Amino acid sequence: MARPWFDHFRFAAPFYDRVLAGGEPAATVLDALALPVDGWLLDAGGGTGRVSARLLGRVGGVVVIDASGAMLRQAQAKGGLHPTLGYTEALPFPAGAFARILVVDAFHHFYRHAEAASELWRVLAPGGRLVILEPNIARWPVRLVALGEKLLLMRSRFYSAAALEALIGGQAGAQVRVDTTSAPYYIMLVASKAAQPAGSEAGRS
Ligand SMILES: C[S@@+](CC[C@H](N)C(=O)[O-])C[C@H]1O[C@@H](n2cnc3c(N)ncnc32)[C@H](O)[C@@H]1O
Repeated sequence: MARPWFDHFRFAAPFYDRVLAGGEPAATVLDALALPVDGWLLDAGGGTGRVSARLLGRVGGVVVIDASGAMLRQAQAKGGLHPTLGYTEALPFPAGAFARILVVDAFHHFYRHAEAASELWRVLAPGGRLVILEPNIARWPVRLVALGEKLLLMRSRFYSAAALEALIGGQAGAQVRVDTTSAPYYIMLVASKAAQPAGSEAGRS
């Protein structure tokens, strides 16, 4: 995938965790992830590993994939995480590699959303869960943030709850639930992947 012309997060990386201090995963996110689990967790667009570092010990291991090398250097410094430079639109992992996938405040930054969604779904194991936390563009403070990102030429694209539900719900064997009330400015989408891909039940004649 062609690299973006500019990495906005390069400048934010050294301060990112301090600015968002206290950003531990909310109880609703932890519930949604249904931890502990033996399998591995992928933190897609995971940046400094701010969120997923707090999940170490509750999963088999954590891979943080991100397009920004500067953000990943912060993740590396935390220890225990597996930072990987790359794009969610072309994940360098085999199908079904992760029991859990988390995307916090990153989906709107991805470049090609349909490709990102299908890649996330491909690497999610049957019976696994994908949790996406996205700023809720229906709320006016988020609209101001969106405007700020536009002015910074960040090319963000915010999905409404319904559009996000349609995009992820369209993946094979996806069962999706969307929560727009637990956190005032966020959409939380939880998608469970059927343990058996549709149409492959054992013993079918
Ligand atoms: C707002 S930060 C969120 C970081 C982290 N999830 C958190 O909540 O602390 C968004 C991150 O998404 C990354 N990103 C943007 N586009 C990406 C893509 N196509 N694939 C992977 N990461 C991407 C950025 O480099 C940045 O680190």
